[in-house]
Amino acid sequence: MKVLLSLFLMLASMVFGLPHISRDVPTNATMEMYDYVVVGCGIAGLVVATRLSENANTSVLCIEAGPLDHYEDLIEIPVYIGQQPPGFYEWSIGTVPQSQLDNTSRPLPMGKGVGGGSLINGMIWNRGNQDDFNVWAQLGNPGWDWDCLLPYFQKSETYTPRFYGNLSDQPVTFNAAVHGFQGPMQVSYPEYYWPQTVNWFEALNALQIPTSFDPNGGLSAGGYFLPLSIDPSNQTRSDARRAYHDAAAGRPNYHVLTNAQVGRVIFNNDSSTATGPGVRRGGLRAVGVEILGGRGGTTQTVLAGREVIVAAGAIHSAQLLELSGIGTASLLSSLGIPVLQDLPGVGNNLQDHPLIHLSYPYQNASVPTPAWLLNNSTFNTEAEVLYRTSRTGPWTAKPSTALAFPALSQISPDGQYMPLIALAESGDRYYPSTYDWTLKSGYELQLSLMTPRFLSDSTPAYEILNDNSGGLDLALMRPLSRGTTHITSADPRVNPAVDPRWLVNPFDFNLTLLAMRFNQRILDTPAIQALQPSYPNIRFPPNATSDQLAVIVRAGIGTEYHYSGTLAMMPRELGGVVDPTLIVYGTDNLRVVDTSVFPVIPGGHLQAVAYAVAEKAADIIRGVV
Ligand SMILES: Cc1cc2nc3c(=O)[nH]c(=O)nc-3n(C[C@H](O)[C@H](O)[C@H](O)COP(=O)(O)OP(=O)(O)OC[C@H]3O[C@@H](n4cnc5c(N)ncnc54)[C@H](O)[C@@H]3O)c2cc1C
Ligand SMILES: *[C@@H]1O[C@H](CO)[C@@H](O)[C@H](O)[C@H]1NC(C)=O
Ligand SMILES: *[C@@H]1O[C@H](CO)[C@@H](O)[C@H](O)[C@H]1NC(C)=O
Ligand SMILES: *[C@@H]1O[C@H](CO)[C@@H](O)[C@H](O)[C@H]1NC(C)=O
Ligand SMILES: *[C@@H]1O[C@H](CO)[C@@H](O)[C@H](O)[C@H]1NC(C)=O
Ligand SMILES: *[C@@H]1O[C@H](CO)[C@@H](O)[C@H](O)[C@H]1NC(C)=O
Ligand SMILES: *[C@@H]1O[C@H](CO)[C@@H](O)[C@H](O)[C@H]1NC(C)=O
Ligand SMILES: *[C@@H]1O[C@H](CO)[C@@H](O)[C@H](O)[C@H]1NC(C)=O
Ligand SMILES: *[C@@H]1O[C@H](CO)[C@@H](O)[C@H](O)[C@H]1NC(C)=O
Ligand SMILES: *[C@@H]1O[C@H](CO)[C@@H](O)[C@H](O)[C@H]1NC(C)=O
Ligand SMILES: *[C@@H]1O[C@H](CO)[C@@H](O)[C@H](O)[C@H]1NC(C)=O
Ligand SMILES: *[C@@H]1O[C@H](CO)[C@@H](O)[C@H](O)[C@H]1NC(C)=O
Repeated sequence: MKVLLSLFLMLASMVFGLPHISRDVPTNATMEMYDYVVVGCGIAGLVVATRLSENANTSVLCIEAGPLDHYEDLIEIPVYIGQQPPGFYEWSIGTVPQSQLDNTSRPLPMGKGVGGGSLINGMIWNRGNQDDFNVWAQLGNPGWDWDCLLPYFQKSETYTPRFYGNLSDQPVTFNAAVHGFQGPMQVSYPEYYWPQTVNWFEALNALQIPTSFDPNGGLSAGGYFLPLSIDPSNQTRSDARRAYHDAAAGRPNYHVLTNAQVGRVIFNNDSSTATGPGVRRGGLRAVGVEILGGRGGTTQTVLAGREVIVAAGAIHSAQLLELSGIGTASLLSSLGIPVLQDLPGVGNNLQDHPLIHLSYPYQNASVPTPAWLLNNSTFNTEAEVLYRTSRTGPWTAKPSTALAFPALSQISPDGQYMPLIALAESGDRYYPSTYDWTLKSGYELQLSLMTPRFLSDSTPAYEILNDNSGGLDLALMRPLSRGTTHITSADPRVNPAVDPRWLVNPFDFNLTLLAMRFNQRILDTPAIQALQPSYPNIRFPPNATSDQLAVIVRAGIGTEYHYSGTLAMMPRELGGVVDPTLIVYGTDNLRVVDTSVFPVIPGGHLQAVAYAVAEKAADIIRGVV
């Protein structure tokens, strides 16, 4: 091993002029070479790194730009969701000005630390619909339909249903056949049940929106009572750090390097110097990564004998490939980056669920709301005591589990024409001007597969994030708009230019207006009127005109934190970046395993899908599927 390594290093320094390997790589990296080097220890990175290290003969290093958390209450106790200070295990990054909206930029919160987004996310646990994944397969990805992914959804979770003792109508319905009961992630429900949950489902049902039987079965639109990534034994957050990392941390073959940002993947064109097994396709061979030094410090290098696995999240994974010479040739050349692989898909096909905050605060003083946790210290103190002494009460239930995912037909009889209009108004006016023919072909195919799905009663068009205090935020689940994220500098410390282009396709814009009108119909139901909604924070009157609503939309639309699609799994001639084994085109052993590879964003919150996709990726890499 030692001899091979020195030989390799000698060769490598001759070919690339690699810097000498420094022995004082920060924290726990104790070796210069690992079988697998994983970049980014968020959800996908930790799943893959810990699964690969189950084999004691396999050495794995996971490299994370952020720190290891200290089991802070701010992470573990559900009441603190959304209350963490800015920068708490978080990158500081925003969009470019959104010219299709109001010309201003928006923040893009994303997790930074061992656990990534799972440290700070809203804990909502859902999967999207079965057809979301069947579309993935139809886009040229055999093995990625619902039936193929279901075993991995199950593998990742331990699902614990809950019976709310004092309710006549139990909200938790589940189909045991679609759940897992032995996986690392704890998936369950809060101990506390906000009374207005009853009003919520009553209002939806009065408007002919049915309550779905087990939303995570992926078959229906309607009212959803969703589980959370919460440990039912003590009502604390379950996340990738606690569920995957902590269980593996004692393995001698699993190392994690924290506060270390990877700036570049290093390649060797000559596969014959490879030391490990693996696919040989005559492409570029990833041999390691460069880690940025501290301020003014020198760059350090770690070598990968088998594979480099990219899991830095949809924005940073695309950035890393471009910095490494894989992307649109003209862009890379213009920044002085040697082009190793001209791959136009990199950084394109960016998708997110566009979200708008809308709040109609409930005024009925006899119904407690989550807002009371912030503005009624008597209520909050009682709730804290309950939590600290018995792990019950409202502190377990900050995130709402009573949501709605309506189909277009459920909110508007005219809705059926919109998809037809969207199809007729061909997509070519709405994709980015920089798209080449492969990306255009891929987008046209996505449109032709997605638009007819809006005609189905069982496919949600959008989500209503009822927060039980009068907040009815809206987020589109199947946006037809596509954005971009590209580097503007060869310096890895410079944030990329992220342009989500939310609502650039008029279908998305029109759907948002329809959804806002439907909020009014919900508010007008007797069940919600009993909670006495009010209008102090919204600058539009009840039953506002489209023009009035449009102003609100242009100012209010932002992210639901669901960045994905930027290194899409699709055929190369459709603008894809990775093949169905998640290998980057033109390389032998560079894989991407995070939300970047989703070809089309699923219609649900992304974390459950991120865990499942990474579980499957680990099996692909181990060669067991
Ligand atoms: C505020 C917020 C709320 C959310 N709420 C929900 C929710 O309620 N339900 C849900 O399902 N989903 C939610 N999400 C989304 C979900 O958490 C993400 O989709 C998920 O974390 C994505 O997983 P990932 O593995 O692709 O990336 P991440 O989990 O983001 O992990 C990427 C990791 O890579 C690291 N990294 C980046 N660049 C580098 C580099 N160059 N070198 C080394 N390391 C690097 C990052 O620091 C990060 O730790 C939320 C996200 C946020 C931010
Ligand atoms: C690094 O090692 C120290 C000491 O063994 C341990 O306390 C720490 O948790 C480790 N850090 C990581 C990121 O594994
Ligand atoms: C690990 O390597 C040893 C020695 O080469 C071998 O005997 C053993 O079978 C290997 N175990 C696994 C799980 O591959
Ligand atoms: C955004 O800026 C462009 C160019 O300056 C201008 O034409 C457009 O009207 C602006 N849009 C809005 C909504 O302000
Ligand atoms: C159910 O019981 C709990 C605990 O006794 C109580 O806090 C809650 O308000 C009750 N919920 C409803 C809807 O009655
Ligand atoms: C919650 O329970 C789990 C499982 O028993 C345990 O691993 C974890 O440490 C507990 N967390 C807290 C904050 O008590
Ligand atoms: C690697 O391959 C690329 C593309 O074929 C080529 O431009 C480059 O010079 C090669 N680099 C080395 C070190 O051989
Ligand atoms: C608390 O907040 C809610 C919602 O914003 C508001 O309706 C209520 O009046 C507030 N109560 C107090 C005591 O400030
Ligand atoms: C604050 O909470 C207490 C305890 O639950 C309750 O009795 C009181 O009515 C609340 N006050 C307001 C203004 O909502
Ligand atoms: C969106 O609404 C506008 C204005 O009513 C209309 O002209 C356009 O055809 C609609 N487009 C779609 C895709 O619904
Ligand atoms: C406020 O809520 C209580 C409890 O649900 C209900 O009895 C009362 O009728 C509501 N007030 C109004 C004005 O609807
Ligand atoms: C909105 O319009 C509907 C239908 O015309 C009406 O029934 C409802 O009362 C109106 N809502 C408000 C708050 O004015």
